[in-house]
Amino acid sequence: MDINYSEKIPNNVNLATDRKLQRALEHWQPHFLNWWSEQGPKDFQSNDVYLRTAVGVDAKGWASYGHVKMPDYRWGIFLADQIPDRKIGFGDYFGEPVWQQVPGELRSQFRRIIVTQGDTEPASVEQQRLLGLTCPSLYDLRNLFQVNVEEGRHLWAMVYLLHCYFGRDGREEAEELLARHSGDSDNPRILGTFNEPITDWLSFFMFTYFTDRDGKFQLKSLSESAFDPLARTCRFMLTEEAHHMFVGETGVGRVIRRTLEVMNEIGTDDPGTIREQGAVDLVTIQKYLNFWFTSSLDLFGSEISSNAATSFANGIKGRPDEARFEDHLCLDSSYDIDTPDGIEKVGLRNAMNEVTREAYVKDCEIGIKRWNIMIKRANFDITLSLPSTRFHRTIGSWANQKTDPLGQVITQSEYDKGIPTWLPTEEDRGFIRSLMQRVTEPGKMAGWIAPPDRGINNNPVDYEYVRLK
Ligand SMILES: [Fe+2]
Ligand SMILES: [Fe+2]
Repeated sequence: MDINYSEKIPNNVNLATDRKLQRALEHWQPHFLNWWSEQGPKDFQSNDVYLRTAVGVDAKGWASYGHVKMPDYRWGIFLADQIPDRKIGFGDYFGEPVWQQVPGELRSQFRRIIVTQGDTEPASVEQQRLLGLTCPSLYDLRNLFQVNVEEGRHLWAMVYLLHCYFGRDGREEAEELLARHSGDSDNPRILGTFNEPITDWLSFFMFTYFTDRDGKFQLKSLSESAFDPLARTCRFMLTEEAHHMFVGETGVGRVIRRTLEVMNEIGTDDPGTIREQGAVDLVTIQKYLNFWFTSSLDLFGSEISSNAATSFANGIKGRPDEARFEDHLCLDSSYDIDTPDGIEKVGLRNAMNEVTREAYVKDCEIGIKRWNIMIKRANFDITLSLPSTRFHRTIGSWANQKTDPLGQVITQSEYDKGIPTWLPTEEDRGFIRSLMQRVTEPGKMAGWIAPPDRGINNNPVDYEYVRLK
């Protein structure tokens, strides 16, 4: 269905036919805009930014591009088209028609999962609030804001579900989504990673590579849901999400490319000398990667989880790409989980978090391979790698176990000694911060990052992506 832009809230859900819902959402809308102006990107609110806006929901040609001021962005409610006769693809209700309403007995489970997903969306906007002040280029500034407005849109997506299907509880949860804030000591965001401030662009690129990719896998699982409106919402969100991971992968790639140029110029891979040239040494890039990868792994939850089993049984969350699997009931099979006490065999349903996490890890490896090819082509014998999923965990069976990045169990003192070489130190963070100088001349890049291969939507790299006057 086409998106109706003539209404206060753009939508493709026929909002005008449900006056009560429309009024409730129109009541929430100014609260959202307030939140955006207080917690969204600092400054730049009155500048024209070259943004894409959804105009349809099919994969081809769904977006239009143009300069808009961020507060005027047309946030709205966009669901992927309904699949006729869609059947539940997994769990105890396998093969039955999907649900257009939430079954009463599953209400609180569905609500919790929608709230948890919804909470991450505004959280990331809050985390990234100050980044615009130190943008490495106008191109990057625009990409940051594109990600930010779309995370705001994802909040709308979840709030629509809460308002439409969860009555008064849902409306209260929607208010709470604007009341919690990233890093707030009294009222923080629900998940740990979303309370880590992102104050430098290397972290931003790592976040969009690793943490937005966690988002992709959560959305993939929810796209399988028996609750059809949730599935359709998440399917469209995935289309938007792809750009966020593109920003991450190309962002980290451009930092590496610049480092390689500097290494070639000075003829050494010595970190200190590279830093003197204002580039980021690969050792530091590996440390940032270790930090954001492991922190994102925690988002999948415990390897062995009765919650995950219930969620699968009840049709709430499937496995990413559920159709790839042969057995959708998963009642009789078991799964080997790596724990500090050895391999533990658990029922497959209890291992669903781990199944999703493994698919995520595979997906993370793709970019690492590409970056390593760049390094190899530049004739350096260095490789970046993902650390073991045992390393630096705070959730699951390996939580607080001392291992090195290869996953070898080590003593506390070996761990303490190793940590400054495995994760960013205060000094590393200080160095990265020192590089964060704002560059806003069209086409110019900060010295620590290479230009992108191409601009956005066939525009040149030196296009005025953000008009600063
Ligand atoms: Fe999102
Ligand atoms: Fe995202």
